[in-house]
Amino acid sequence: MPDLEQLVVQATADFSAAGEISRLEEAKAAYLGKDGSLTALLKGLGRLSPEERKAAGAALNAAKADIEAALAARRAALRRAQLAAQLAAEAIDVTLPGRGQTPGTIHPVTRTLERIEQLFRSIGFEVADGPEIETDWHNFTALNTPENHPARSMHDTFYLLDEQGRVRADVLLRTHTSPVQIRSMLAHVEKYKHLERMPEIRVICPGRVYRVDSDATHSPMFHQVEGLWVGENVSFADLKGVMADFLRRFFESDDLKVRFRPSFFPFTEPSAEIDVAFMHGPMEGRWLEIAGCGMVHPNVLRAGGIDPEKYTGFAFGMGPDRLTMLRYSISDLRLFFDGDLRFLRQFQ
Ligand code: DAH
Repeated sequence: MPDLEQLVVQATADFSAAGEISRLEEAKAAYLGKDGSLTALLKGLGRLSPEERKAAGAALNAAKADIEAALAARRAALRRAQLAAQLAAEAIDVTLPGRGQTPGTIHPVTRTLERIEQLFRSIGFEVADGPEIETDWHNFTALNTPENHPARSMHDTFYLLDEQGRVRADVLLRTHTSPVQIRSMLAHVEKYKHLERMPEIRVICPGRVYRVDSDATHSPMFHQVEGLWVGENVSFADLKGVMADFLRRFFESDDLKVRFRPSFFPFTEPSAEIDVAFMHGPMEGRWLEIAGCGMVHPNVLRAGGIDPEKYTGFAFGMGPDRLTMLRYSISDLRLFFDGDLRFLRQFQ
């Protein structure tokens, strides 16, 4: 029987010398593996007499337990060292300043739309919307726009193609929000058809519109807000009062000048253009066109299912992009649609 004490000492020394887990497993095999020296000794027990086997077996088992304990201790030590090394390597420097979070901002045009909605809601208007892909009938015909009107030309209007790639005459990207007037009237009439007296229609329709046009003050996509008030005895005086009051509140300027200049639109009669002039600031004294408006043409009321003998109404259409440019002194319309964060972040 070899010196077991010496064997345990040697094994412990070998384990200590193993600098990593894989080496430790190799060192373990030399003692406890299939061909390990301790394993060989255990196998040899069978050749001993029963008395000898008892004493030798106890000694071998004790040595085996010692070797296994040394192995476990070394394994645990190596694991701890490995973890410590990994933690040191992957350490996070919590003292570095963070990247921070930039909160999003509301787009300036959206702000304007919200402001317009809020001001019109305060005088009893509802907010409606309609589709951006519109029928020729809603966009033109129902709005009393004749067949040969220049706005209907492909130079001004985006038409859609059919499956064969041919231009369809019946669908287009709406060129204004005015078709929502027709949709609002038809829906309103349907909703209240059981009543003898139809309640008034008071609605604004903000949304995107499209035209074949692009420069510093025109974008192929831009915004409009349509307005419609239909009832018994709604007059041009109501139109003037509502719009002048709205514009003064919108620009927060009591001395804002508002003028109604005669104009022409197929869907209103009479028609006017609304101009404003500021009494102070960089635009002082200059008249700026803000909106088109007028008394709803009888043909338009009829297309909306409303009897022009019983009801009258006024309508207007304005450009919130333009209003936003004036409110924030922005000179190029395209800034709104470029998505440049340096521009947009100014509207915190
Ligand atoms: N739809 C017209 C345009 O896009 C604007 C407009 C003018 C709307 C007069 C109206 C209106 O409702 O009465 O130029």
